[in-house]
Amino acid sequence: MENVTPFMLEMTKRGMKHFVNELKERDDFEVNFFEGKCANCNGVAIVPKYRINGHKDWISVFSGQNVNCKVCIDQKELAKVFDANKKSTNEYLIERFEKEYWEIPNDLKEAGFKNFRVEGNSALLEAKRVAIDYVKDFMEGNRYNLLIMGNPGSGKTHLVTAIARTLKKEGFLIGFLTTGKLLSKIQSTFNKGSMKTKEDIYRDISRCNLLILDDLGSEAKSKDEFDWSKKELFEIVNLRIGKPTIYTSNFNEKHLPTAIGLRTTSRLYKDTKFIEVVADDYRKKLKK
Ligand SMILES: Nc1ncnc2c1ncn2[C@@H]1O[C@H](COP(=O)(O)OP(=O)(O)OP(=O)(O)O)[C@@H](O)[C@H]1O
Ligand SMILES: [Mg+2]
Ligand SMILES: [Zn+2]
Repeated sequence: MENVTPFMLEMTKRGMKHFVNELKERDDFEVNFFEGKCANCNGVAIVPKYRINGHKDWISVFSGQNVNCKVCIDQKELAKVFDANKKSTNEYLIERFEKEYWEIPNDLKEAGFKNFRVEGNSALLEAKRVAIDYVKDFMEGNRYNLLIMGNPGSGKTHLVTAIARTLKKEGFLIGFLTTGKLLSKIQSTFNKGSMKTKEDIYRDISRCNLLILDDLGSEAKSKDEFDWSKKELFEIVNLRIGKPTIYTSNFNEKHLPTAIGLRTTSRLYKDTKFIEVVADDYRKKLKK
């Protein structure tokens, strides 16, 4: 190798003592640089080698390992930086979604599986089991949808909050909204000066690892809004086909088509577990 000064060789020798076990306790060796083949691109890789005094062979510091050229080494470093960046993009996304699409009701901020009581009600027990299984399956990569139907106060939002909080802690990108809230978010993009377009929201909605839409069927307020809501809901359900989504509703299977439309209901069936919980209104237990 050209351009190698005695000083560089001396420094390399010192460094090598830390690198190669055999050299730790000795000083009777010389070092030099040789040209090798980059394992990645077949280009020229510079390989530092040492030779113990009196021995014939030069030994590579990387003996038994692949060596890379300068370009490939730089590329590897760059890939690491990109990876770190990817992670921070994801963290940024999680933060943004928490601001924009994470709306756990105030009374459910602490809702979890532990404080969901079944009190001998077999429907509640079954619902809780399905919810816990959902989390387990999700973590194992077995992803599907849930539709939880039931009367007011039966604990639907509590259960889906428990699912959402557990998976969010695992780092998944999760949206949690009532359908009404999501629709008004979409509606507000039509306002003058809105920072977002409807397409932005659609993109976000299809991006969530898990989307929870609470209170399906309770979104429409007036007759005018009814048709618009139905159409939007159809778009949203369509967007989420093939992506894990959990719906809750006060309507049961029989009445859902009237509330949200036949075509939307029909699309809810694909890959979806339906459960119905009938239970005393828990809110009555909470009154002062
Ligand atoms: N099985 C339960 N164990 C403990 N708390 C419960 C249970 N079921 C409901 N609750 C509590 O009762 C309140 C109402 O429950 P939740 O909001 O889940 O009802 P819901 O089925 O979503 O009702 P709605 O249809 O009106 O939205 C919440 O504060 C919730 O924590
Ligand atoms: Mg609810
Ligand atoms: Zn190379």
